[in-house]
Amino acid sequence: MSVSRKQLSEKSSIGVFDSGVGGLTVVREIMRQIPNESIIYFGDTARVPYGNKSKETVTRFSRQIVRFLCSHDVKAIVVACNTASACALDELEQEFDIPLIGVVKPGTKAAVEATRNGRIGVIGTEATIQSGIYSRYIRELRKDAAVYGKACPLFVPLVEEGLWQDPVTDEIARRYLAELIDCGIDTLILGCTHYPLIRSTVGRMMGEDVALVNPAYETALELKRLLEEEGLLNHEARTLGSIGHQFYVSDGAEKFKQFANAIIKYGILSAKVVNIEEY
Ligand code: DGL
Repeated sequence: MSVSRKQLSEKSSIGVFDSGVGGLTVVREIMRQIPNESIIYFGDTARVPYGNKSKETVTRFSRQIVRFLCSHDVKAIVVACNTASACALDELEQEFDIPLIGVVKPGTKAAVEATRNGRIGVIGTEATIQSGIYSRYIRELRKDAAVYGKACPLFVPLVEEGLWQDPVTDEIARRYLAELIDCGIDTLILGCTHYPLIRSTVGRMMGEDVALVNPAYETALELKRLLEEEGLLNHEARTLGSIGHQFYVSDGAEKFKQFANAIIKYGILSAKVVNIEEY
């Protein structure tokens, strides 16, 4: 099925989605870098985590969400989830005629710019690490790079439970990250949008000589570039109150709202529950 491109307007919103709250770390960067844009966010809180699911399942979920976002007035969609970017982005780009941006390519670019010794680590979900997508993209930019991937499946539930600064998180991080320290990496990609929320723990374990790359920053820049190129950047100066961001989830709106307010400090008054299986 192909959804044909409707008339896109600079006044339209940016669609952003993730399996849960992680994509809010990308929303935070978008709000910093292009503050005039309004955002329609969907967090698939009923079906999180995506990271231990098959490519087919993640693609089906992502397709439903893109259909949902396209039922709103959006001019571009950010796949603010590494797992969905790794598993589904290629197919979504074939199916939908709307600009789509994932987080993997921008993260790769930032890491290749940051590394000095060419040894780059990537942490992410099982699906992201197994896809090998980061190694592939990194080697396209720097042939001699050595890439070390490590799946960290317990990080997502720890983040979703709010254990951002906790001895339990320290202990799990110590176990996961030991082998990356032994590999002599000087750059580590936080290859899951949940991980910037435990950045200080990861940074403490890796030591100050290892640069941490948060793909969210580069993704927001990439989005800005794309909107400029397509003549879709909103230049109208707007106050926070008039922007009207919208937040949707597939379950647990109240918990999401509290989380979201802790992450983006925007003052989210409501999050609505959507039956995503209908899309
Ligand atoms: N935040 C998602 C990512 O960037 C994944 C979390 C999950 O497993 O659903 O990969």
